[in-house]
Amino acid sequence: MQDALIIFDTTLRDGEQSPGAAMTKDEKMRIARQLERLGVDVIEAGFAAASPGDAEAIHAIAGVVKHSTVCSLARANERDVRAAGEAIRPAASGRIHTFIATSPIHMEKKLRMQPDQVVEAAVQAVRLALEYTDDVEFSAEDAVRSEMDFLCRIFQAVIDAGARTINVPDTVGYSLPSLWGERMRRLIERVPGSDKVVWSTHCHNDLGMAVANSLAAVMQGARQVECTINGLGERAGNASLEEVVMAVKTRRDVFTCDSRIDTTQIVPTSRLVSQITGYPVQPNKAIVGANAFAHESGIHQDGVLKHRETYEIMRAEDVGWSTNKLTLGKLSGRNAFRTRLSELGIVLESEEALNAAFARFKELADKKREIFDEDLQALVAADASVDASDRFRLVSLKVCSETGEIPHAHVTLSDGGSEIQADELGSGPVDAAFRAIEKMVESGAGLLLYSVNNITTGTDAQGEVTVRLARNGRIVNGQGADTDIVMASAQAYLNALNKLYGLEERAHPQV
Ligand code: KIV
Ligand code: ZN
Repeated sequence: MQDALIIFDTTLRDGEQSPGAAMTKDEKMRIARQLERLGVDVIEAGFAAASPGDAEAIHAIAGVVKHSTVCSLARANERDVRAAGEAIRPAASGRIHTFIATSPIHMEKKLRMQPDQVVEAAVQAVRLALEYTDDVEFSAEDAVRSEMDFLCRIFQAVIDAGARTINVPDTVGYSLPSLWGERMRRLIERVPGSDKVVWSTHCHNDLGMAVANSLAAVMQGARQVECTINGLGERAGNASLEEVVMAVKTRRDVFTCDSRIDTTQIVPTSRLVSQITGYPVQPNKAIVGANAFAHESGIHQDGVLKHRETYEIMRAEDVGWSTNKLTLGKLSGRNAFRTRLSELGIVLESEEALNAAFARFKELADKKREIFDEDLQALVAADASVDASDRFRLVSLKVCSETGEIPHAHVTLSDGGSEIQADELGSGPVDAAFRAIEKMVESGAGLLLYSVNNITTGTDAQGEVTVRLARNGRIVNGQGADTDIVMASAQAYLNALNKLYGLEERAHPQV
């Protein structure tokens, strides 16, 4: 009998702290539903005190998710804990995750609090959280650089106050597997009452050790891992959920625990998160990268054909690669379209949304003979990224690119309902289109990133474009997808501008 390994996904909170990865409420709901299908035990849906919009998104997720615990982060203060408590109220199973920094450098320079005050704030936060739910988690931020004696003291105090999960974060990604495992082992051994709680690990990837450190902690008794899809997260990211889950499953000979994740949902979840956040997955990324199961060399191909296990330790279909199948075509009807969307876990909120998506599907099927699941996901993601409150919309785009001539773009936009037009030259058609848009909008935003990925194979594939813009310290990602990559680029640029103009003030939990 194996222990349960609790998978705590923080894509919607720590993952969202990646530059430009801020998501709308609808986007968060789509990811939350998919995380539930994946079988995640706890979904950290956000940081309720960040803004009214963040609280609303957590509340909405808590209202629809039934099979995963829905959690909100809260700093150890009354306002945050109450905001978290209200946000998770509709949840069938809700958790408050409260935290405070415990390292000397954070206590002195960031919090400007004495250690006694930190312990007191942690205990008060846990007690208050218990008024909303009996499922309370406490984290000691920067535990990696905290003194062992102080960690033991604060953990004992919050366990006595009623915390059920104790999370030990390597906030700055500083540890190494042997040290991190040892820290977990000593904490479990030394803290009185440690057998009454679940020990959790939360590792950042600054030295590329997040997964290795998390697994080392699991080997020493941690039974919850905090992780994100595709390893998304602050700076170099968090431990990647798919890598942790597959390592534990594949090395059953070593681990005495296992998760309840439906691994066949891993690849679809990875794609969805990548599409929504605009963070492409590198081809050689373990488990979910396009090359993860591709065998280039002749020797490997020969071996795999003779006996798969010569070079493969996991089966591609077990992590969801087989979902990459041809689904629909030009003649497919509305019912087939609706059925496939629901098989993919995509729920469109209204008949109008379904009709709009179906119309876009028909347009796409005219341009592209074979429609794959990835095309459907991109299509719905593109629809969801357009909001009724968006200020800018693309009315039309004409580009001219010819040997020996300077590329030229003519763009017509709707700005809050009024049509405006501009012409510009550029070093290429995309550059000309962006210049024409900028001439009209005058956002002054800096272009931090422009990337194009093909969603499926073939020259008729849709190009998925990500544009990252920065203005006054704010960073946003915009996405667009089309078989015409200039069109997709203009859509992505406008999507980013709409986010930039629509952003509300948000507090960052760790600053
Ligand atoms: O990295 C960290 O310390 C965190 C805490 C808020 C848990 O994300
Ligand atoms: Zn973190």
